[in-house]
Amino acid sequence: MSIDLFNQTLYEKPSTVKEYICTQKDLWIEEKTIFEKYEQHIKDKAILDVGCGGGRTAIALSELTSNYTGIDYSMEMVKACQKWHSSLNFIHGDASDMHMFDGESFDFIIFSFNGIDCMSHEKRIKTLKEIYRVLKSGGIFAFSSHNLDDRKIVTAFNKYDMKRPRAIARNLFNVMSYLKVRKYQIHTDTYEILSDLLAGFGHLTYYIRKQEQVKQLVNIGFKNIAILNRQAQFVDINSLDRDSEWLHYVCQKPTSDDRNEDSQQK
Ligand SMILES: C[S@@+](CC[C@H](N)C(=O)[O-])C[C@H]1O[C@@H](n2cnc3c(N)ncnc32)[C@H](O)[C@@H]1O
Repeated sequence: MSIDLFNQTLYEKPSTVKEYICTQKDLWIEEKTIFEKYEQHIKDKAILDVGCGGGRTAIALSELTSNYTGIDYSMEMVKACQKWHSSLNFIHGDASDMHMFDGESFDFIIFSFNGIDCMSHEKRIKTLKEIYRVLKSGGIFAFSSHNLDDRKIVTAFNKYDMKRPRAIARNLFNVMSYLKVRKYQIHTDTYEILSDLLAGFGHLTYYIRKQEQVKQLVNIGFKNIAILNRQAQFVDINSLDRDSEWLHYVCQKPTSDDRNEDSQQK
């Protein structure tokens, strides 16, 4: 089994779907800030909500536009969204292959709640390229991703959960889950894929340093990259965000004018 299949299987489980439908309801402060600051790219525009999960962001985004589409590779998540938000458009599909959409289809694309961290490195790059393809020129892409500089990364290695009193059954569950995923962990100079708290360490999560994430985006063609910490403050690319478990990134696909300008400067 690959990392990709492992995590995808987790998102099909009824218990995971229930968790996202029942407990994930409110927008995060970073998302509120992004929706306000980039309102001109969102309000009444074509929006794609990648990895829409249980529909947490669907509610807020559909209040801003009537042109909302949610996509998720978990059929169970899609079915739940279709049931609970029946007036909205949800599609079953994988973000790394969005052949159902023409190029330049959306003004604003979001991949919220670190959904992009569920994938292998290769699939992440493919997904970013697909998002770039279906985004209109001048359009905005926002997402969050785990921060490899976070001083409190919680993995089964540092056994955060083990310290809790009277949680023996939970700890046993965590250890069993960890043993299943540990062989898929990856450590490189630029990113790591680690077992983390989600599903009692039974999830594999991609962690990356801010500077490397920016490089990935620039290599694909994105520009005007802004980064927010967990307090929704815009931070510099060179700051060390030791207290942000994850960071939000907002970037733009250049317009044809931008591209002409760039080629003239070369
Ligand atoms: C952490 S959950 C977040 C759900 C929702 N966006 C929210 O904020 O509550 C990540 C979601 O991304 C979906 N996902 C992960 N990788 C995906 C991919 N390659 N294509 C489509 N959906 C994906 C998962 O099925 C899951 O529903």
